[in-house]
Amino acid sequence: MTPDYNTVNEKIFAALENFKAKNFIDAEKLYKEILELKPNHYETICYLGLIYAQTKKLDLSCKMFLKALKMNPENAGLNNNLGNIFFELGNIEKSIDYFQKAIKIDPKFIDAYFNLSLAFKNVGKLDEAINSLKKIIFLKPNDLKSIISIAIIYQNEEKIEQSFLYFIKAMKVDPNDLETRNLFLELIKTTNLHSLTKKYPKEIKNIFLFFLKQNNINHDDIFNNAKLFIYFHQDKEKVERIYKSQELLLDNDNIKQNLTDEYFYLMLQKCLFRDIFLENFLTKIRREILLDLSDKKKKILKNYLNFIISLSQQCFFNEYLFFETNEEKKALLKLENKIINNNSIDELEVAIFACYKLLNEFQTLSNSLLKYRSKNILFTEMVNLQIIEPLKENDLKKTIKSIEKISNQTSLKVREQYEQNPYPRWRYAKSIKIANFSDKFKKEIFPNKKDFINNFSNPNVLIAGCGTGKHLAHTIYYENANISAIDLSLSSLAYAKRMIEEIGYEKINFLKGDILSLKNLNTKFDIIECVGVLHHMEKPIEGLEILINLLKSNGVIKLGLYSELARGDVVKIRDLIKKEGINNSLESIRYIREKVKNNSDNSLFKKISMNYDFFSTSNVRDLIFHVKEHRFSIPSIKKILNDLKLEFLGFSNPYIKKKYSINFPDDKKNILLDNWQKFEQKYPDSFYDMYQFWLKKLN
Ligand SMILES: C[S@@+](CC[C@H](N)C(=O)[O-])C[C@H]1O[C@@H](n2cnc3c(N)ncnc32)[C@H](O)[C@@H]1O
Repeated sequence: MTPDYNTVNEKIFAALENFKAKNFIDAEKLYKEILELKPNHYETICYLGLIYAQTKKLDLSCKMFLKALKMNPENAGLNNNLGNIFFELGNIEKSIDYFQKAIKIDPKFIDAYFNLSLAFKNVGKLDEAINSLKKIIFLKPNDLKSIISIAIIYQNEEKIEQSFLYFIKAMKVDPNDLETRNLFLELIKTTNLHSLTKKYPKEIKNIFLFFLKQNNINHDDIFNNAKLFIYFHQDKEKVERIYKSQELLLDNDNIKQNLTDEYFYLMLQKCLFRDIFLENFLTKIRREILLDLSDKKKKILKNYLNFIISLSQQCFFNEYLFFETNEEKKALLKLENKIINNNSIDELEVAIFACYKLLNEFQTLSNSLLKYRSKNILFTEMVNLQIIEPLKENDLKKTIKSIEKISNQTSLKVREQYEQNPYPRWRYAKSIKIANFSDKFKKEIFPNKKDFINNFSNPNVLIAGCGTGKHLAHTIYYENANISAIDLSLSSLAYAKRMIEEIGYEKINFLKGDILSLKNLNTKFDIIECVGVLHHMEKPIEGLEILINLLKSNGVIKLGLYSELARGDVVKIRDLIKKEGINNSLESIRYIREKVKNNSDNSLFKKISMNYDFFSTSNVRDLIFHVKEHRFSIPSIKKILNDLKLEFLGFSNPYIKKKYSINFPDDKKNILLDNWQKFEQKYPDSFYDMYQFWLKKLN
């Protein structure tokens, strides 16, 4: 109850206190009482306008501000407030008038310039929006929000050079700002910067070097552009000629110089190389180094020790996928005997060996390396990566709870695959700001909008089929979330647990088991995410039904399913593998990859060799050797949603939605599956990764 106040002044004071404390109900009541006593009390009218704006009573707010403006027409703040109200009411032209008036009254009014830029953006007047933001930068040169806003407008307009330059400007203001970094990385990930790297080689290489040194980004995002600085421009043909000839790469001065470049080391250590040219280069140079390892040559090779260690990390990453000749196999056996029988550690020999074999698999050597102290940080890191981390994972396996025994035959086979090759192997993930899930969700389903009774303030989250935890690396940023993660494969779970704990998050409830066993779970979830999993079950619909039963009525679920159309080429290769009776051993994977790589005039092979999943053993197994794979189409998804009474909320990929909107401008929410079906027919590669989309239960 509001206490009684005797004088108007007491009421004004109390109302203001309530306003400041965001007790808008009490503040509103008091201000109304004041107006009854003093109908033209200017401050009261203004505060009521603000309260109505905060509580979204926009018409009332507008009325109050207009009344105040009559009393004080030259007040810049009031004009700005009215601009905001008209903006929210959807009357953008009027909002522009008010913002402009505010700026005329106060030419240094930064908020009004920013609001004006939003209004211009809203009506597609992008040049005007940019000019307004540039005025802020003129007044306040380091205003990050304005610099980034300009970068984004240019990016959306596909004016990549301008966008890039503004992002560089933003990075100079604050290289550690997470939002700046992540937005910039998104541009780098989705754009070919080939011509820009020629125009601004120094600036761009420096930016990449900066990113390569960070451990809280996903370095795969920069690989395609960062690789342009390794032998790409003028040197590529020269290098290509050498590796096709009998000449040695290690005899070439240019190449030798590159092998001592920190940039190249960091690329090898942090990015999975998805590039046939670079793969061939690295395969040949690895071979030269191994076959050249005579006592006489050791002295020269020692100059490249850091390169060799970095290469060993790359080979660990791709799970020793590079092709080995018989000559190498023989030399490797010799080297293995030498290292194992050696009483001391020869760092060069161990590093070369580690380019071919996982050190952890050699007990005696591992024990010696665990006791050994190197002066070379990179060597220590290699031992950490290849011996200490796998040991940690073995320990973590003991801490993961099992629910029910896995008995389904398909699940057992699938588990076996992921025990041998946990997927996907990853090293670093991007940090993002912790935020309420609704914020993320709004972006995921945009342009669809959905109001929920669920405010996701303390969400229960289930990640079904979490694999090695790459997916979890995003989920941990949902504010106040209780996360459970289940998977069939204990190796994958241990990898996930180690990686997520290294990021500093220790609250996930990891469970080993089959989605089929979740039938008996008592908990219900606000959010369920199951990406790339159901299509590996014997009966995906059965799995989905179980998950839907675990979903709260106001919860949401994200699915990722293979597309029949987009995977046409994969299916052809899978058929070929079956016909030729090729098994899924590492040797066979290397064999089929060579066949694909060496027949680039075959369009099918060429396409497969460009697939994102062609460049590590677990990726290739997942791509073309999977023990179980179902594929879906948009009509089949539509039927499933009808049968299970689910509402389609939208695909999550913003780039596909942008393209779709151009093709189907009338479907403002991007949710009409019949249109999506036509869209996929027109652009069959759209879902080459997967269909990834959000659903909820129908009310
Ligand atoms: C392709 S991986 C995807 C991993 C993860 N969702 C991601 O997007 O990175 C598929 C994962 O699903 C798991 N999986 C497949 N069938 C499952 C089932 N019936 N129950 C639990 N996990 C399953 C596998 O063990 C594997 O780790």
